[in-house]
Amino acid sequence: MIQRPKGTKDILPEDSLKWQYVEEKVKELFGNYGFEEIRVPVFEHTELFQRGVGETTDVVQKEMYTFEDKGGRSITLRPEGTAGVVRAYVENGMSSMPSPMKLWYNMSMYRYENVQKGRYREFNQIGAELLGTDSYLADVEIISMASQLFEKLNIKSIKLYLNSIGCPECRKVYQEELKKYIAPNLDKYCDTCKSRFEKNPMIKLDCKEKVCKELNENAPAITDFLCDDCKNHFENVKNMLTELEIKYEIDTRIVRGLDYYTRTVFEFVSEEEGYTVLAGGRYDGLVKEVGGADTPAIGFAMGMERLVPLFEKNNEINPRQIKLYITNIGEIANIYATKLATELRNKNVYVEKDISGRSLNTQFKYANKKNAKYCLTIGDTEIENRAAKLKNMATGEEKEIELNVDSILNELK
Ligand code: HAM
Repeated sequence: MIQRPKGTKDILPEDSLKWQYVEEKVKELFGNYGFEEIRVPVFEHTELFQRGVGETTDVVQKEMYTFEDKGGRSITLRPEGTAGVVRAYVENGMSSMPSPMKLWYNMSMYRYENVQKGRYREFNQIGAELLGTDSYLADVEIISMASQLFEKLNIKSIKLYLNSIGCPECRKVYQEELKKYIAPNLDKYCDTCKSRFEKNPMIKLDCKEKVCKELNENAPAITDFLCDDCKNHFENVKNMLTELEIKYEIDTRIVRGLDYYTRTVFEFVSEEEGYTVLAGGRYDGLVKEVGGADTPAIGFAMGMERLVPLFEKNNEINPRQIKLYITNIGEIANIYATKLATELRNKNVYVEKDISGRSLNTQFKYANKKNAKYCLTIGDTEIENRAAKLKNMATGEEKEIELNVDSILNELK
């Protein structure tokens, strides 16, 4: 048997129902904040991610699905959504539309990762991007929208970690300090960290290797090096979150694994599951990097493969119940039942009927197994008398009703 590739997942109908529920809730909430959906290509020119996400990041160095197409172009399956959305924003002249621009997406992503719990090679992200304002109010709006989402999904055990990684100016000063701290022990760091020492020392703080984590324990914190503007911005974000009673913890180790971030960065973590469910931050330089005008922006994305299991732990979602199963016997009854089912479905009722030519007994068994609420039995006599028996499958109670759509609908109410 051919198996699915490592790091991919089948979402079977029972789970799909939960995905749909979560997606609906997210869509509703984002809509109430004025976010509109955007869909961008599953593949882009490799250069977009090299420039946008950053040459020294794990995503670009190790995880991209990159190939040459038949025209000799280097193409990459999107490893994340922000770069593509920003490219679309620039390419379609969206900066001339009312600003700030609020966009959301629900898209599959591809990263050649070490597969483990909650970490796939094909995964789905729902994300939100807010472009066109550098106000701290936008940071607060984005973070509070994310926090409300968890509330709406009844997911309580989630913690918000916050940090500011400053702007390129204050980060320069910090990186020099960090280098001074790292240099004496550089040979003890993992090979990846060593290779990033010159170009991107900050990314080391994100390294999951035990030895690097230990070495970084007393590293200087970026928050001690913020310039006045970045400091004020961060103070304003924190103060307003406190006013809004959104609980957070400062974690100066959060640097995020993608290069485009500036100032506020945040992660919503499930400590129970041991992973980050939703993560994001400000990316004030990305639009310009991709070829647009200088446009500040902020956003986040959440992994559905991580969110849905958490949702499932905290909520009970029952499978859809068949409202009416029409058991029927004989050719005429079959045609009649088919027409009746179509009429009822058009009235938005979940109706099933036999489509396998099975015996009445087997049809009842199937209806029972599928937990149908009612069964209506139709044969030649019922059609002639314009009346049929409606059985309540939970109580076993039977009732003779008129055989027409209105009376059936009335009984099903
Ligand atoms: P990210 O931290 O790389 O950020 O991913 C965001 C979320 O996607 C993670 O917190 C996690 O829930 C999920 N995720 C990431 N990789 C995997 C994986 N291999 N398997 C399953 N889930 C995964 C970004 O992608 C940014 N584009 C977020 C953003 C939007 N920042 C600003 N705007």
